Amino acid sequence: MEPVNVGLLGLGTVGGGTVNVLRRNAEEITRRAGRGIRVSHASARDLGKPRICPTDGIKLSDDPFAVVNNPDIQIVVELIGGINPARELVLAAIERGKHVVTANKMLIAMYGNEIFEAAHREGVMVAFEAAVAGGIPIIKAIREGLSGNRIEWLVGIINGTTNFILTEMRAQARDFSKVLKEAQRLGYAEADPSFDVEGIDAAHKLTILAAIAFGIPLQFDKVYTEGIRQITPDDLNYAEQFGYRIKHLGIARNTEKGIELRVHPTLIPERRLIANVDGVLNAVLVKGDAVGPTLYYGAGAGAEPTASAVVGDLVDVVRALTSDPENRVPHLAFQPHALSDVSIVPMEEVESAYYLRMNAVDRPGVLADITRILGDLGISIEAILQKEPAPGERHVPVIILTHRVKERSMNKAIVDIEALHTIHKSVMRIRLEPLD
Ligand code: HSE
Repeated sequence: MEPVNVGLLGLGTVGGGTVNVLRRNAEEITRRAGRGIRVSHASARDLGKPRICPTDGIKLSDDPFAVVNNPDIQIVVELIGGINPARELVLAAIERGKHVVTANKMLIAMYGNEIFEAAHREGVMVAFEAAVAGGIPIIKAIREGLSGNRIEWLVGIINGTTNFILTEMRAQARDFSKVLKEAQRLGYAEADPSFDVEGIDAAHKLTILAAIAFGIPLQFDKVYTEGIRQITPDDLNYAEQFGYRIKHLGIARNTEKGIELRVHPTLIPERRLIANVDGVLNAVLVKGDAVGPTLYYGAGAGAEPTASAVVGDLVDVVRALTSDPENRVPHLAFQPHALSDVSIVPMEEVESAYYLRMNAVDRPGVLADITRILGDLGISIEAILQKEPAPGERHVPVIILTHRVKERSMNKAIVDIEALHTIHKSVMRIRLEPLD
C-alpha cells in the first residue's frame, strides 16, 4: 500500500525532530500503522535556515497554504505555533477534508471548541497529544486509559521552564531573574518568556487537560492564573523547613460547587513523588475514582520527545483513516453532544490551605494582632515560624501555615494584616495542597 503523505507546517525544532523520528523508526512505524508515513511536503518561513533533519525527498515551500491546499496531502501537521496563521491553516485543512495533527496548545486552548466542531462536521480528526506535556502521552492516558473512571482531580507540573527556575532557585539559592536568564540561554523558555513565568503556557495546557478529564468545553478565559516572579529563594527555603516544596502547578478539581481551574505556585509535601520532579521535566498526577492516583512523568519539551507525541498521533490518524468517524475516540474524550455545562468555581470560592510570609516589627503583641485577625475570620493556624532579625534590621520574617479556608476569607485577612502599622511591605501568600 502507498505511504500516507504528510504536509509539515514548520520545520523548526519539533518539525525537524518529527522528520528524524519518522525516518529513523520508519519500519516499526509502518508495522504499527499498517502503512508508511512520509513527509512529502513541508513549509518553513526561511528556507535557507540550517535544519536539524535531512530534507531530501521533501518538497519545500515558504507558503504553508500551498502545503495545506496540495491535493496529495492527507494529513497536515501544524507546528508553527501561535494563533495566526495557525488557526486559519488548521481550519483550511479541515475544510479540505484533511486530518490535522498539532502541537499548538494556545490554539487548542483558545479555539479548540470551534476547531473540533469544524472537524466533527467534516468527519476528520484533529490530534493534539504534543500540545500538553511534550512526550508524556497524557491525553491518551486520560482520554482512553482512564475512560472507566470519574476523574476527581488532576495536578500537573506542565511547564518545564518554571519547574527549572524553581528547582535552580532552591538548589542554588539564586534569584528568579538570574535563573530566568539561564533558562533563556539554555533555550527552555518560550519565545515570549512571560508565557512561561506568568503561567499562561500552563493555563493553556490545564484548559486542555480539564476538558478531557471532566468532559467540559475548553474555557481558557476561566483559568485563574498566577506566575512565579514573586517567589524568592527564602520562600523555597522556609517551605522546606516545614517539609514542603514549592511547585508551579496546574490544578483542576471536580467539586460539588463546580470545576476548579487554577495555575499558581503551590506548597506540596516533599514526600509526594511529584514534589521531586525537578528541572525541565513535567509530571501529571491524575486521581480517578476507580484507579486512585496515577502519575505520568517525562520530558515536557524538546525536539524528539515532542516528536514522539506528534508521530504517535500520526499513527493513530493513519490507523483511523478508513474508520467510520462516529466510531473514533472523541476529540474531548466525551461525545460532543454529551459535554457538560458545569460551571467553573470563582477563585474567591476556592478552598485551600495557605503559606503566608510577612515582615513584622519585632516587639510584643505583634504576633497576637496577626493571629487575632486570622482567628476572627475563622482561619486556623497549622504552624508558625519566626526567624531572628538580620543584623541591623527592625523587622523579622514571620511565616504561617493555615488550615483550609475560602480564598475570600484569606483575601480579607491579608488586607487586614497589611493594614497593621507593624507590618512592613505586602504579605506573601502561596497556596498549599496536601495532595491526599
Ligand atoms: N515552554 C514550554 C515549557 C515548552 O517550558 O514547558 C513546552 O510546551
